[in-house]
Amino acid sequence: MALTMTSLDRTFGVRITGKRIPDFTDDEWQTVMDAFHDHAALVLPEQFLTADEHIAFAERFGDIEYLRPGEKAIPVSNQHADGKIMTPEEKRYQTLRGNEGWHTDSSYMPLASKASALAAEVVPAEGGETEFADMRAAYDALDAATKAEIADLSAYHSLYKSQAKAGFTFKTGEAYGYHAEGAPLRPLVKVHPVTGRPSLFIGRHAYRIPGMEDADAAALLDRLLTDACQMPRTYRHQWRPGDIVIWDNRCVLHRACPYDYDQPRVMRHVRVAGDPASELALVTTPDELANGFAPARSGA
Ligand code: OGA
Ligand code: MN
Repeated sequence: MALTMTSLDRTFGVRITGKRIPDFTDDEWQTVMDAFHDHAALVLPEQFLTADEHIAFAERFGDIEYLRPGEKAIPVSNQHADGKIMTPEEKRYQTLRGNEGWHTDSSYMPLASKASALAAEVVPAEGGETEFADMRAAYDALDAATKAEIADLSAYHSLYKSQAKAGFTFKTGEAYGYHAEGAPLRPLVKVHPVTGRPSLFIGRHAYRIPGMEDADAAALLDRLLTDACQMPRTYRHQWRPGDIVIWDNRCVLHRACPYDYDQPRVMRHVRVAGDPASELALVTTPDELANGFAPARSGA
């Protein structure tokens, strides 16, 4: 049976059905890769991939970013391996709640992510969707004045800052995601390394803009984010067990939707590393930050 591609009726995203991923032919892989670059997010319902199949799928897109030493696939879940549901005091629970803010994965790391592949194993009866937003279309929709205003701006990205802003203060080393004080500096407008399309590179980890007062930067970043994440640029995926979605972190934001956190929700996440030529950013030290050091554009 051949692959069927169905539009999500948004500015981005396509649903692919008709075949299990491990059975894709080389020609079909070419079609899938072209679709990834054209549509920026691929939804593949009811694939029921094993962890190894999930990893092999992600590896088609590039090298894996290890989220824990030695582990290519990690659970994104409010349930411990022994079945116990996490409590709000736990750092991993707080990371899940942080995921409810719009973000792009690993923008706070020196090497930002290329793509993330998220698969559903156990889903709650209600809520717990994942929402996505197309930052290419969001950039295109900006007025000329805003495009000019942000053309040469960059923002620092930090997981510690975004978690603290969400009410969860982490100490250095308490979670995946670099260190508390230095932070990568990334242009607000990112040019896609494959398609050449500009997109807004923002989200909750972005917190400071060199050359601007912090309050002004926060207001600008909030305004850009709110305006960007509107229909028809957003798609909310209602998970069923076995579904897998892969999105392009270079031009798509995502966030988890709330649910009853007393119910289990078990997802499996494999993250594809960015390419150093386009996703590596300069990281400033605390001293440089304190002195207002603003390196030149990194090209990332
Ligand atoms: C992630 C993430 C969203 C979700 O795994 O990086 O943001 O809906 N997940 O679980
Ligand atoms: Mn995420």
